[in-house]
Amino acid sequence: MGIKKSPPTSNSFSDTDLVSLSYVSELKNPLDTLELMQLVDLATVRNSGLNITGVLSCEGNRFCQIIEGPANSIEMLWSSIKNDPRHTNIFTLGTKKIKQRAFANWSMRLVDSKQITTFDPKLNNF
Ligand SMILES: Cc1cc2nc3c(=O)[nH]c(=O)nc-3n(C[C@H](O)[C@H](O)[C@H](O)COP(=O)(O)O)c2cc1C
Repeated sequence: MGIKKSPPTSNSFSDTDLVSLSYVSELKNPLDTLELMQLVDLATVRNSGLNITGVLSCEGNRFCQIIEGPANSIEMLWSSIKNDPRHTNIFTLGTKKIKQRAFANWSMRLVDSKQITTFDPKLNNF
């Protein structure tokens, strides 16, 4: 798996800081609609237990995702996501401290690839 850049370590934040992490990655093999829906369904359940919210887009072989929540939960989820064998060339755009959630009502929501760039314009560069 290619990870071009690591996010800041947990030392940068205290466990309860609210943070947001964006990344892009590439699917190794195409996912059909059902597989994508299953991924989002499982993510929704797990994220809600971790107090994580966010959005995901998948177009062609390209994933973009923004996850937000307490720094310790984001660190835990990020370690699962970056080790997930379904994608590669994982490139983080960094983790930043936020004052409030952008996706308070969405444990994980599939959005289109144009919409996700409106939430983090840096995603436009990939
Ligand atoms: C692009 C992508 C996005 C993912 N997003 C999430 C997510 O938001 N929440 C989640 O629980 N799992 C997500 N997953 C699945 C995790 O990578 C992982 O399979 C799942 O959390 C189980 O992790 P574990 O095997 O470490 O228990 C995502 C996987 C991919 C490929």
